[in-house]
Amino acid sequence: MVKVAVLGHGTVGSGVVELLLKNKKSIESRAGQEIEVKYILDLRDFPDSPYQDKFIKDFNIILQDPEISIVAEVMGGLSPAFDYVRSLLESGKSVVTSNKELVAAKGAQLLKTANQHNVNFFFEASVGGGIPIIRPMHQCLAANEISEVAGILNGTTNFILTKMIEEQMPFDQALQLAQQLGYAERDPSADVEGHDACRKICILASLAFGKHVYPHTVHTEGISRLSLDDVAYADSFDGVIKLIGRARRLPGGKIVAAVYPAILSKHSQLANINDVFNGILIRGDATGDVVFYGRGAGKLPTASAVVADIIDITKANCTSKSLSWEDSSGDNVEDYKLSPSRFYLKLQGDPAEARKQIARCFGDAEYLARPGQPADELAFVTEEMTEHELDRRLEELQGVQLKSMIRVLDY
Ligand code: HSE
Repeated sequence: MVKVAVLGHGTVGSGVVELLLKNKKSIESRAGQEIEVKYILDLRDFPDSPYQDKFIKDFNIILQDPEISIVAEVMGGLSPAFDYVRSLLESGKSVVTSNKELVAAKGAQLLKTANQHNVNFFFEASVGGGIPIIRPMHQCLAANEISEVAGILNGTTNFILTKMIEEQMPFDQALQLAQQLGYAERDPSADVEGHDACRKICILASLAFGKHVYPHTVHTEGISRLSLDDVAYADSFDGVIKLIGRARRLPGGKIVAAVYPAILSKHSQLANINDVFNGILIRGDATGDVVFYGRGAGKLPTASAVVADIIDITKANCTSKSLSWEDSSGDNVEDYKLSPSRFYLKLQGDPAEARKQIARCFGDAEYLARPGQPADELAFVTEEMTEHELDRRLEELQGVQLKSMIRVLDY
């Protein structure tokens, strides 16, 4: 029998315990032995919980219990999660986690520690919730050189954008709904400002390109400045706005990575991923594009990935299967502005003068229109150029005010 401890009894943690009981028979037949939750660590009290005998508040009980061989860290955050996970690995216990902040900040170090101590550090649940992505990338696509990873990596923002696009629901109301449904982070600004998606693209890029990509090296923009006007202009261009995380390998081996809202053609695969669903596109030299799709957040989808890691470690039977990537100083990531794209621009100014300026700086722009468009508002899409080139041309524009800029991508 394998005895496990679960650190945290929030949305994901309670899902892990529930799923291990709900599917006990099939899980144990796949794992090859019984799996028992011995401890649940949480500082809060849960007087109505059926697992009263399992709750503890002292982490050291888990660390020092030789019966515990696998620990699920589902608390989130860096502190104390990092210290807990490191000491568990050092004491010979395998760890599975859904904590993308931890993996994005400390993945290289924790993978090394796991390898040194012949235990496993798995994090299937850290990206894409219930979507299998880490193991498929690491194992099933192992024969490929991956040139690009891109996706809709945050369920909360995708839910909000879907509500804005399909129901013209105000941003705040959609966010509240996402929080009620258990999709959002404890601090929802991590979702809305793109930091959660940034952590996930860092994990995927580290895995795809073999060197740790740190969040501070990845340009990140969220969706909080988007308006229903931008949504309407995108619609007139046959597009939708999605929050995209992307990382591409450049010919010299360095990568460009960024998170930002982007306009995608309504006919593209990623454009049709709605609500809390996530979609991840991997471009391999042998496979071409492979797209993974599923529920990117929520209790049982995320718990499904955590429990799958527990089953895998149980089967691995005291060997280290941990994947690994090299640490980096951050110089593996190039300036994201080198990446070319088309750009949607919304400007305000005297319309006749603005059109002259736009023609002078951008040549033949593709103008967009929306219902209720004020006379002094102009929106258009540029030809393809790097973002440095865009900056240069914007500097030359005179007497008009830039109100929004959104990249137009062709996924
Ligand atoms: N807040 C995250 C999301 C949870 O909305 O995608 C899953 O990582």
